[in-house]
Amino acid sequence: AFMKEVSGFSVLEQHVKDKLQLNHVIVVPGNSDEHDWVKQELGKACIHYLKTILQMKQTIAVTGGTSMAAVAEMMTPFNGATNCMFVPARGGLGERVENQANTICVEMAKKAHGEYRLLYVPDPISEESYQSIIEEPSIKEVLEIIRDADVVIHGIGDAVTMAKRRKASKDVLNKIVDGNAVSEAFGYYFNESGEVIHKVRTVGIQLEDLYKTDCVIAVAGGKSKAKAINSYFKQGKSNVLITDESAAQELIREF
Ligand code: F6P
Repeated sequence: AFMKEVSGFSVLEQHVKDKLQLNHVIVVPGNSDEHDWVKQELGKACIHYLKTILQMKQTIAVTGGTSMAAVAEMMTPFNGATNCMFVPARGGLGERVENQANTICVEMAKKAHGEYRLLYVPDPISEESYQSIIEEPSIKEVLEIIRDADVVIHGIGDAVTMAKRRKASKDVLNKIVDGNAVSEAFGYYFNESGEVIHKVRTVGIQLEDLYKTDCVIAVAGGKSKAKAINSYFKQGKSNVLITDESAAQELIREF
């Protein structure tokens, strides 16, 4: 039944793929703004896709957020791809515990029968502590694993929504609003043309690192996120998008 639903959107998938110039697009039915089960479908589709590309002993770096939490929720054991390792893509970004990358990592690893390594860094972090933390041997080791990740899976959010959800300071919020930021991913805030307006200082994957990762999968749906998705992919180093019908239709109509 799942494959049937997916193939039902093949024209829409092709449109989005052409528009955003991606390697692969998967569209699931519905609008995740309205129903939580749509996020679970995004999660299921992501796991299904992951299983087609993953090989033994590969490392998967993940971000936080509710879409990524849905991916973790839907995780099942990998058959062929044994001994996989899950790591958080970046240090803390101000999410509540259940939506943090570390938490998502542990759940994914347990369900996939894989391993995990976590990052324990304060959030937000001063320039001074940032410099000393990245020299800590235990952190350094995990950071190397993260930067060598074979697959990266991440969420995309609306800029102002994310700044507020993270309880960003007034200064940061002003910077985001004044700079007309519309999307956020990996702690980077982008405007409509994909320029970086603000960046949360933390350890882990930096935008430049994504160039050398073969497979970067974005999981983001909901009509309200179409603008953010479009903006993120202007800069976009991700090559796969897992989204829903409402976001896909809006993307084609409006942008
Ligand atoms: O904070 C982690 C994060 O992946 C952000 O980079 C992204 O904007 C957001 O979560 C997406 O969250 P959600 O899936 O809940 O919309």
